[in-house]
Amino acid sequence: MTRKPMVGGNWKMNLDHAACQELAADVDRGRALLEGPCDIVFFPPHPYLRSVASHRGGCMLGAQDVSGHEAGAHTGDVSASMLVDCGCQMALVGHSERRHGHGETSREVAAKAAAALNAGLRVLLCVGETSEERAEGKTAEIVCGQFVESLTGIDFDALERIDLAYEPVWAIGTGQTASPEQAQEVHELLRAEVGSRYDARSAARMRILYGGSVTPSNAAELMACSDIDGALVGGASLEAGPFLEIVRAAART
Ligand code: 13P
Repeated sequence: MTRKPMVGGNWKMNLDHAACQELAADVDRGRALLEGPCDIVFFPPHPYLRSVASHRGGCMLGAQDVSGHEAGAHTGDVSASMLVDCGCQMALVGHSERRHGHGETSREVAAKAAAALNAGLRVLLCVGETSEERAEGKTAEIVCGQFVESLTGIDFDALERIDLAYEPVWAIGTGQTASPEQAQEVHELLRAEVGSRYDARSAARMRILYGGSVTPSNAAELMACSDIDGALVGGASLEAGPFLEIVRAAART
């Protein structure tokens, strides 16, 4: 089964209103020159979602986080229906900067995923191990455990609206990318886990993106791996030129 690649730009807590609009418009213009199909999704900071919505062209819009609650007294939270209202098609859940920086558990991630799916959004679920966990040989246990627990209670029917991102914590923002072999190994085992938890068709269809210090110089070899279906890019997504080079590498595969 061929899977359409996807490349996400996670802008994290960077840029300003004007820079977000300009970046979205520049990337969208670059889309016209791609050699193959590739979904592109922007994850701007929440306050800029609406302005990026009007400059995204044929690219998708996603939120970096979403509340697990539907509405009510949750100061500072943003609900999935508000994100839909702002023009989002997707929500990122389980990013390590939320899991580790804000102590989010997989149970909370599952509530967020459910809220997003119920509102009609796609979900991009991130999983990844720390360097200590890798050194202790726990990579498979951690990433598969996060995958299973973060989707607890999610209907089988919703699975086609879920994409995964493998983001080793030790590779995020460090310049220390996983080697293609290391990344492929984890992607393969995650795909096998999808197969054993759900079914072979879902496993074959599931997009699994790699994230962690992806740059124009390492994108092609990562994207060439059979179970890597795109990239989730942080630092290199903040300028249109490098980001588009990564998109081109994904679109060529
Ligand atoms: P970097 O590309 O800056 O390592 O960030 C990766 C990431 O966290 C994307 O979500």
